Amino acid sequence: MRRFVIIGHRADTTGNFKLDDVCGGAGRLDVLIRCVNSAFFLSHSIRRDVEVFLILQGGEDAPKTIRFCGDELRYLNPDERSTASLIRNALLKKVAEKEIRASPGIYVSRKSFEEILVDLAKGGELLYLKENGKDIRDVRLEGDLIFVLGDDRDLSKEEERILSVHASETLSLGPASYHSDHCITLVNNELDRRGL
Ligand SMILES: C[S@@+](CC[C@H](N)C(=O)[O-])C[C@H]1O[C@@H](n2cnc3c(N)ncnc32)[C@H](O)[C@@H]1O
Repeated sequence: MRRFVIIGHRADTTGNFKLDDVCGGAGRLDVLIRCVNSAFFLSHSIRRDVEVFLILQGGEDAPKTIRFCGDELRYLNPDERSTASLIRNALLKKVAEKEIRASPGIYVSRKSFEEILVDLAKGGELLYLKENGKDIRDVRLEGDLIFVLGDDRDLSKEEERILSVHASETLSLGPASYHSDHCITLVNNELDRRGL
């Protein structure tokens, strides 16, 4: 299983945004939607062995986490507008303490970054993606892998501190600073090549 955790530092948690304003009013939700696309879409199918966690930290209802579960997903299309609509629909649901299902394969909870990491650390190896990490090509990877990355902003010092408690390694994907969705494509490609 491959998992990706992306922190949306300003991403809206209220659902109170227009579908044609995901870059502005929704707090750069466009970055997160592209991450969802890169995580799941192959040319003619969806990767079923992938799970994505969008940690939304903007707006009055923060934090919230939207979880996309590849083997249950339906109605996910490559266009950003329809994914924004699925996310908005999830955010408009009434969420109390427990995670709830908003639509097939899409879940919403009030979990924070730290709570998600604590959960995930029980079932896999957490890896921090960062420009100055160890080259991924020099690292042996196996089992259930969980990759953590920022949106258009890097992780804050506090987020790095929380992650350092759980992550086993910091990995670099190459010599440039890449967009988050491109990082996910690179990881998927690397794991595909290794047959993982
Ligand atoms: C668009 S970047 C964030 C801002 C960027 N670090 C900058 O200086 O402009 C998004 C995230 O992708 C990941 N990332 C970008 N380039 C990477 C690389 N070469 N290796 C590993 N992770 C990378 C990091 O987690 C980063 O926070």
